[in-house]
Amino acid sequence: MLNKFNEIKENGFIKIKENSKIDFIKEIARMKKEKNAVILAHYYVDGSIQDIADFVGDSLALSQKAASTDADMIVFVGVHFMAETAKILSPNKKVILPDLNAGCSLADSCPDDKFEQFIKLHPDHTVISYVNTTAKVKALTDIVCTSSNAKKIVNSVPKGKKIIFGPDRNLGNYVSRMTGREMVIWDGACHVHNEFSLEGILEQKKQNPDAKIIAHPECPKQIVLVADYVGSTSGLINYVIEDDAKTFIVATEPGVIHEMKKVAPTKFLIPAPGDDAECACSECEFMKLNSIEKLYSCLFHELPEIKVDKEIREKAYKPIKAMLDLS
Ligand code: 13P
Ligand code: SF4
Repeated sequence: MLNKFNEIKENGFIKIKENSKIDFIKEIARMKKEKNAVILAHYYVDGSIQDIADFVGDSLALSQKAASTDADMIVFVGVHFMAETAKILSPNKKVILPDLNAGCSLADSCPDDKFEQFIKLHPDHTVISYVNTTAKVKALTDIVCTSSNAKKIVNSVPKGKKIIFGPDRNLGNYVSRMTGREMVIWDGACHVHNEFSLEGILEQKKQNPDAKIIAHPECPKQIVLVADYVGSTSGLINYVIEDDAKTFIVATEPGVIHEMKKVAPTKFLIPAPGDDAECACSECEFMKLNSIEKLYSCLFHELPEIKVDKEIREKAYKPIKAMLDLS
């Protein structure tokens, strides 16, 4: 049964009827203006959403934008921890996310109670947490980092000071190798980046000997070691623009290829294969939960809204602010 918004309710979720006559793009633009909302999107969401967003970026740039926008409402088209970070930075703004189920396997790999025990086991350590964490984990942290500033953040800790790094073991080990700093690293990982197939990538390289391999630092050591360049999503995009190579094997979520094609249309981009025999697509199913229809519905109803408990928010704000000040 359709309600007046052309929606159907299914298992408690609102769905827009597929053949509904709504011009979503036009309506989103109209509501955005009417509500003084800004649409922030991550490079991993579907290209059609990136095309209508006000700003598309990596985690760091999106946090910076969330902190500086003068909009009344932030529509965060990404995953939950990103919208939560935006809320922590801009508590007086309404922050909404098209699908509350858009989580993150890496953030899930670090429950706050277990992380708190881990910190207690290593007293006198500076705690560095990747932005892919819950607000509660950030509240236990001294300084947050993203993939684009992790080396800088680690280097900002005085040499004699011991470091805990969480939750991504691949990023932690990569940064440790790059900075020469020994760190106590939490054993978490992203299910997308952890599953790239080295064999598959080397086969692609064999077929395209002049291709450069580029990888996100959430990939495991065996992938990072064969990569010509390792960096955040923005770093990877810039490398494709600036490097002379014509072909690139891209070891990160393939949503980023949308922007690469726009800014470097003459380059040939090959998504690196995953290990999963059934789906070698390496897509982040959480990022892909976002859709134009859900974006419309979320902007219309101003739901689901991200809320963060005041005490947690105040504690989590400090390590995020510390990162932004250093970035
Ligand atoms: P970036 O900060 O590089 O955009 O990465 C975010 C992310 O979730 C990687 O999986
Ligand atoms: Fe989280 Fe991995 Fe998806 Fe990034 S790609 S949002 S780390 S699950």
